[in-house]
Amino acid sequence: MPTYFLFFFFLSIVSLTSAEGTGFVGSPNPKLLGLKSKEKLSHLRFYWHDMVSGSNATAVEIVPSVPEYNTTTSFGLVRILDNALTSGPELSSKLVGRAEGLYASASQTQLNLLMVMNFVFTQGKYNGSTIAILGRNGALTKVREMPVIGGSGVFRFARGYVEAKTHSYDPKSGHATVEYNVYVFHY
Ligand SMILES: *[C@@H]1O[C@H](CO)[C@@H](O)[C@H](O)[C@H]1NC(C)=O
Ligand SMILES: *[C@@H]1O[C@H](CO)[C@@H](O)[C@H](O)[C@H]1NC(C)=O
Ligand SMILES: *[C@@H]1O[C@H](CO)[C@@H](O)[C@H](O)[C@H]1NC(C)=O
Repeated sequence: MPTYFLFFFFLSIVSLTSAEGTGFVGSPNPKLLGLKSKEKLSHLRFYWHDMVSGSNATAVEIVPSVPEYNTTTSFGLVRILDNALTSGPELSSKLVGRAEGLYASASQTQLNLLMVMNFVFTQGKYNGSTIAILGRNGALTKVREMPVIGGSGVFRFARGYVEAKTHSYDPKSGHATVEYNVYVFHY
């Protein structure tokens, strides 16, 4: 049997059934997935509270830095976090979600963090939707840009970037409040 015949044979099955039930790859109508025809751009702004010490710490060290390496950059340090996201800079202002994830100190010469986290929103139509971040955070740089690599719920098919800017830092406790501006395309 010539291969082109096989090809058309499969193509006809695919088009009859949308291939959704038949197997490996299909081409569903985006409307059936609830996707609107046009993507929109949203800008979210909130504050990320990195509390690294005290009884209410939300960013907790799980791997210590490697002592043989540059200790001023804390190379190797990993913290797991469940940080509050609030609409204003005060921790007591309205909670809009949490950042679940971790960061690792990944440079031997600068304080650069590998950030891996999900923003999990809890307000209104965003409740339960997430935005995933994976990027490099040069912690001492004024504005740090990191990629939005995906999302769920309202943010399915998300792509975009964030700009993170330290709002305040308390050297005594190590607590940092960081303003996040998220620019994200989604449906
Ligand atoms: C921890 O949270 C409790 C309740 O919100 C608060 O009373 C207490 O002062 C906090 N402790 C620290 C060290 O921030
Ligand atoms: C260690 O890190 C500091 C910056 O935090 C940098 O100035 C210094 O050059 C680094 N030392 C080495 C040996 O890489
Ligand atoms: C968010 O969703 C959860 C789980 O469905 C629900 O328990 C909670 O009340 C919702 N919160 C808001 C603010 O709608």
